[in-house]
Amino acid sequence: MSKPLEGIKIIDFTHVQAGPACTQLLAWFGADVIKVERPGSGDVTRNQLRDIPDADALYFTMLNSNKRSLTLDTKTQEGKDVLEKLVRESDVLVENFGPGALDRMGFSWERLNELNPKLIMASVKGFSDGHHYDDLKVYENVAQCAGGAASTTGFWDGPPTVSAAALGDSNTGMHLAIGILTAIIGRGQTGRGQKVAVSMQDSVINLCRVKLRDQQRLDRIGYLEEYPQYPHGEFSDVVPRGGNAGGGGQPGWVLKCKGWETDPNAYIYFTIQGHAWEPICRALGKPEWIEDPNYATPQARQPHIFEIFATIEAWLADKTKYEAVDILRKFDIPCAPVLSMKEIANDPSLRASGTIVEVPHKERGTYLTVGSPIKFSGLKPEITGSPLLGEHTDEILSELGYSKDQIASLHSSRSV
Ligand code: COA
Repeated sequence: MSKPLEGIKIIDFTHVQAGPACTQLLAWFGADVIKVERPGSGDVTRNQLRDIPDADALYFTMLNSNKRSLTLDTKTQEGKDVLEKLVRESDVLVENFGPGALDRMGFSWERLNELNPKLIMASVKGFSDGHHYDDLKVYENVAQCAGGAASTTGFWDGPPTVSAAALGDSNTGMHLAIGILTAIIGRGQTGRGQKVAVSMQDSVINLCRVKLRDQQRLDRIGYLEEYPQYPHGEFSDVVPRGGNAGGGGQPGWVLKCKGWETDPNAYIYFTIQGHAWEPICRALGKPEWIEDPNYATPQARQPHIFEIFATIEAWLADKTKYEAVDILRKFDIPCAPVLSMKEIANDPSLRASGTIVEVPHKERGTYLTVGSPIKFSGLKPEITGSPLLGEHTDEILSELGYSKDQIASLHSSRSV
């Protein structure tokens, strides 16, 4: 099966997570992604949090599948020459260095555009150009704090809290991938490349838009009816942390199931969707709530919401999270078990759909990774292992026209 991005050559000058997540996605869909890494060390994540001595860490392997690896010291003249050749032949260069690093290396956007006017340059930075923090280096949790996620996550009596989901890193990479694909389509119309820039702060803000919605509602009316603070607690002038409350018009909460005393994940998420009120009451053995004016409408229920959740928890006490969902699904109630990473790793449905896949690796044997969350009717992305450091250096140099002697000379000068 041919892949839609076949023929698109990408210089992957990325490291850690935000950039690699973007280029990995494009590689899955057929792009030739050439990961450019510093000779000797490579992407820092090859060595970080290792679980097998001397083998690439999972941090690296899970973000760099389907790529080729070229080692190149782009601070030597020989290395710069190789990069220039590559730039002339490529469609996209993706980078997420610290602010100014690419300029200091001699590859500013202006220079890249001069070398290849069709090239699309795609950049991730912590903050957008011109922002008063645009000189800062940024990692995941910094972005979650700067993007409004941390101030609105967690419980009201605890500190700002970061999410386990990589809202700053992988999320930014996904935004960048959309930007790159848009620029590729744009190039088809104009014949010219362009610079695509995404900041981690902006990407987090884009996912926090419902909290910006809430800030404006709070400014106008002084309370937020779907938050646990309503109606008994106090609101200040900023959106509070709402614990596990639902973010929309449907109240929800994480509820204990059988075994919660010893199993940290024996919980379900339960949503009280308006139209499901009657079946919920029947499922709980509370038919009198159906017509009771204190419970019959969402507005009437809100002041009692935690009493309702407590009643549901009492009903859940003798049911495992799986048993509970099996009952509740019959009543059309939006709910799911809280799944541990162990359960996700072994979930047969996720294995069958290709969302969780095992791939071979030359040093590690097989490893588990996340496959494409995007499913196509005409494409089944095949996930391959990540490359060893410099595994494809000679192959890529010879594709660029370097002779065996020239390649040997690049090796001996330690430029590759
Ligand atoms: N050959 C030679 N030099 C190379 C090289 C190569 N192949 N690849 C990288 N370098 C150099 C860079 O040119 C830079 O040199 P300089 O600072 O002397 O100009 C140097 O390596 C370090 O780059 P930098 O990106 O600043 O690394 P860092 O480890 O200090 O910072 C981050 C890491 C992630 C904090 C920083 O890259 C950053 O803020 N990136 C933007 C936001 C981002 O993507 N954050 C991470 C999300 S996971």
